[in-house]
Parts: sequence; C-alpha cells; structure tokens
Amino acid sequence: MKKITLVYFSPTKTTETVLRGITQGLARSLGISGSEITAVNFTPPNIRSTVLAPFDDNDIVLLGAPVYAGRLPADAADFFKKLTASGTPAILTVVYGNREYEDALLELKNVASACGFIPVAGAAFIGEHSFASTDIPVAMNRPDENDLKQAEDFGNNTGTLLKKTNDLKKIAALEVPGNFPYREGMGTGAPDFIEVTAACTECGICAAVCPSNAVDADNGFATIAADCILCCACIKACPEQARLMTDGPIKDKAIWLNETCSTPKPVQVFFAAQS
Ligand SMILES: Cc1cc2nc3c(=O)[nH]c(=O)nc-3n(C[C@H](O)[C@H](O)[C@H](O)COP(=O)(O)O)c2cc1C
Repeated sequence: MKKITLVYFSPTKTTETVLRGITQGLARSLGISGSEITAVNFTPPNIRSTVLAPFDDNDIVLLGAPVYAGRLPADAADFFKKLTASGTPAILTVVYGNREYEDALLELKNVASACGFIPVAGAAFIGEHSFASTDIPVAMNRPDENDLKQAEDFGNNTGTLLKKTNDLKKIAALEVPGNFPYREGMGTGAPDFIEVTAACTECGICAAVCPSNAVDADNGFATIAADCILCCACIKACPEQARLMTDGPIKDKAIWLNETCSTPKPVQVFFAAQS
C-alpha cells in the first residue's frame, strides 16, 4: 500500500486547496484511503526547521507552492531542498495569480530531482492573486469549481500513469516550461504597505498566519517590513478587514494586474512520457 504526502507552502491557501483537489483524484484512482494521506504544511515558520524522514518507493509526494515573481518563494525552495527521496514519484504543482508562472515549475522540477524524487507530473493552476481584493480583483475566488474539477482529473490521470508504469526509473524526464538560468526572483524586505486601522481588535490572527513572523504583536500588530514577504495572508485572514493596503508600489502593482491580467488563464498539466 502506498502513502500519499502533501508538502506545501501556502500563505493564502490557494495552493493548499489545489493540492487537496489533486489528492482526491489521485487517492481514488489508486485506492488509497484517508489514513494513508498526510500533509506537511510548512507555511508556519516553526515547521520549516523540521527535517522530514526520507521518502522511499512506498511514498507518492505532492509538492506545491505559489509563484512569486516567476519563481518559487525563497522559503519554499529552501524547505524543498532539504527533502530526501529515493525512487519516490513526485507530483509538482505551482499556483499563480493569473499573470505568468515563468520559471517556477521548472525550478520545482529541478529541486525535486536533486532531492532524489522522480517527477512524474506537473501542473500550473491559478489562484486568487495575493495582492487582490474586492476593490481591485485579480483572479478572484480561484481555484473555482472548474479548477478543482481539473485538479481532481489531474490527480486521477497521474494515478492512471503510475498504475501503468512498472519501473519509474524507465520513464522519460518530465518536460515543463521555463528557462534556466532562472529569472531573478524576489528581493528581501518589503515596502511599508499595510496600514492597521482602528477596526483592529488585536485578536492576533494576522500574526498567527504570517509565514515570516513579520507581524509585531508588541507594536499594534504593525508589519515589520524587513521580514515581510508580501504574501498578504494577514490582510486576507483579518476577520475585521482592519489591515488595508496603502497607496504605493504594491497597490499600484495590484491595479496593473487588475488592468492587464483579467482574462482567465487555463490550467496547464504535464506528464512524463512512458518509454
Ligand atoms: C510576492 C508575490 C509575488 C507574486 N508573483 C506572481 C507572479 O509572478 N505571477 C503570478 O501570476 N502571480 C504571482 N503572485 C500571486 C500568487 O502566486 C497567487 O496569488 C497564489 O495563488 C498564492 O498562493 P497561496 O494562496 O498558496 O499563498 C505573487 C504573489 C506574491 C505575494
């Protein structure tokens, strides 16, 4: 009996939602039950210091991360690089905010291969853009029902591929779009772009969801710009909508995305060819 493990970084949960959809189709296809499925959500910073046990050929691992500036977020890439695997099929997923995913899926494939995984399938899904809001919408509410149906189909088709493939070492290398050398990723630090309004009740949810410990509970839950990775999880999780994006470069980027990336992009999936 195989085990399925989801390993993902997902500040605003779109990647997590897509991976769960893929897992449904995969588990059904392979007849794997819930007790054999585990998730390692390494979004919380304290989880990223853990070292996972090596994966082997009894495992199937789903690796997932959002796209940041056409690359993997640095925190996600650093965690993935610490994984070790031997003969373990990997299903690779990046989720992007309807602009482009550029080199992120290729980077994930290369990182996974270097860890010892055998990438068997890859996908680029769309998620509501981190910078989006109801005032400045970009890919709102994606992944939607149709995306999740495609996620299940992708999982199901990957299950079919795995059932047909007797020796994973004989399958061809997975081909995904992207260029190497990769494009320049995100720099560190952020502009001061979040205002905490009087609606804040100091509930602390913003600090709890922050993947980089960048919300200062001792200073009115203000954002520590030097530590912020711009994920906007704190803005989206606030039950009072007390965290607002101020005027400046991030809001300008959101407005640009709203104006230029409004046509919904399709999900893309890739499978390793059988030799
Ligand atoms: C700093 C940053 C950079 C981003 N760069 C891109 C990008 O290059 N292309 C794109 O389409 N979306 C980009 N996005 C949007 C996210 O990839 C997208 O919203 C994703 O669904 C977020 O995943 P999560 O919900 O798992 O956090 C970016 C988001 C952030 C915070």
